[in-house]
Amino acid sequence: MKLSEMSKAELEAFKNEAQAKYDEFKARGLSLNMARGKPSAQQLDLTQGLLTTVVTSQDCIAADGTDCRNYGVVDGLPETKALFAPMLGVDAEQLIIGGASSLNMMYDTLVKYMLFGVDGKQKPWKDQGKLKWLCPCPGYDRHFLVTEKLGFEMINIPMNADGPDMDMIEKLAGEDESIKGVWCVPMYGNPTGITFSDEVVERFAKMKTKASDFRIFWDNAYCVHHLNDEHDELLDIIAECEKAGNPDRVVEFASTSKITYAGAGVAMMASSKANADYIRSLLTVQTIGPDKINQLRHVKFFGSFEGIKEHMKKHQALLAPRFETVLNALETQIAPLGIGSWTKPNGGYFISFDSLDGCAKRIVELCKEAGVVLTGAGATFPYKKDPRDRNIRIAPSYPPVEELKLAAELFTTAVKLASAEKLLNE
Ligand SMILES: Cc1ncc(COP(=O)(O)O)c(C=O)c1O
Repeated sequence: MKLSEMSKAELEAFKNEAQAKYDEFKARGLSLNMARGKPSAQQLDLTQGLLTTVVTSQDCIAADGTDCRNYGVVDGLPETKALFAPMLGVDAEQLIIGGASSLNMMYDTLVKYMLFGVDGKQKPWKDQGKLKWLCPCPGYDRHFLVTEKLGFEMINIPMNADGPDMDMIEKLAGEDESIKGVWCVPMYGNPTGITFSDEVVERFAKMKTKASDFRIFWDNAYCVHHLNDEHDELLDIIAECEKAGNPDRVVEFASTSKITYAGAGVAMMASSKANADYIRSLLTVQTIGPDKINQLRHVKFFGSFEGIKEHMKKHQALLAPRFETVLNALETQIAPLGIGSWTKPNGGYFISFDSLDGCAKRIVELCKEAGVVLTGAGATFPYKKDPRDRNIRIAPSYPPVEELKLAAELFTTAVKLASAEKLLNE
């Protein structure tokens, strides 16, 4: 029976039952975490062989004779570019291989645009007054932290089932020169799991922007992170922008943080050749070169893009049951009550849960008090302000399935309790 259809007495009884179950959980002294999208220890073990691919001094020599133990090659080894170019569908000259963190590259690129402009010809962003940034949400909390820190006024853009509200994006970006860009996680989004439709990608590529230095930050963090054999496909935004006569509009980012090691993988960015050349020119001032030994390790470990795809199937085998565990709990415990909705992604690291309005903070608090840490309510919105206080990001990747079962049971209990409390207070 739906909670909204219950009489007051039925709701009271429902709430008491949920409270009793919650109290039992609390007494168990759990300590579980469904907060950050971290790979599990089992996933990290899949990549153990990476560490022994480069052992001898001979192993450190790249195909063109470069000794990777020394300085140089600021934008990445040719063989590392060849490994990752097919993953992003670009030519090697459009690719820059960086350090270990794509978030760091995004931050760094924004700062470059702030200080020096997007191409070295147009005015630096810092000299253009108060600037704004479009933020499809719920979205990735760390993106929003970056644009907040850099002083952008962030504008919420609602997410539809096939990507952000493009009518709103086209209207705003088409009218306001102070809007300089947009965050996108186009495939298996964090936290929605949504993959943008072809139409959305095409509209991004074609739309008119008032600012000639408008940039799409296309964070393709989950481009090979499928959970099902029948997986989503994403249209190539760089090719679409080129077709539409806006070749410099988009900057794409990715990393192997959730392919090999989170924080010790390889990060990369791709764009038009002109954009990549400009970034390279600034990089040569900033650094004498990245960790090429790690780049070589990745080349030797995977061999080719096919090797990466094979490796991702092993991740899929570990992640899919974890997602199933959470989705199953939601389906059996919450769906019949009509007190929430959630996404069922084909890939990525997250499930996005929407409670009844005004309940997310309470659910997260209840879980925390009973020993299950979730991402803070509101974190998936700019300024940590969820206007409806309803979105919660669930990250099923880290805990073992048995622990996840418990955590999901507590979560659904907290959803029931918070929803009953709310309805009784209305
Ligand atoms: C959408 C998205 N982008 C970037 C990152 C971080 O990437 P990196 O480890 O390459 O900095 C994450 C991590 O959760 C993410 O979800």
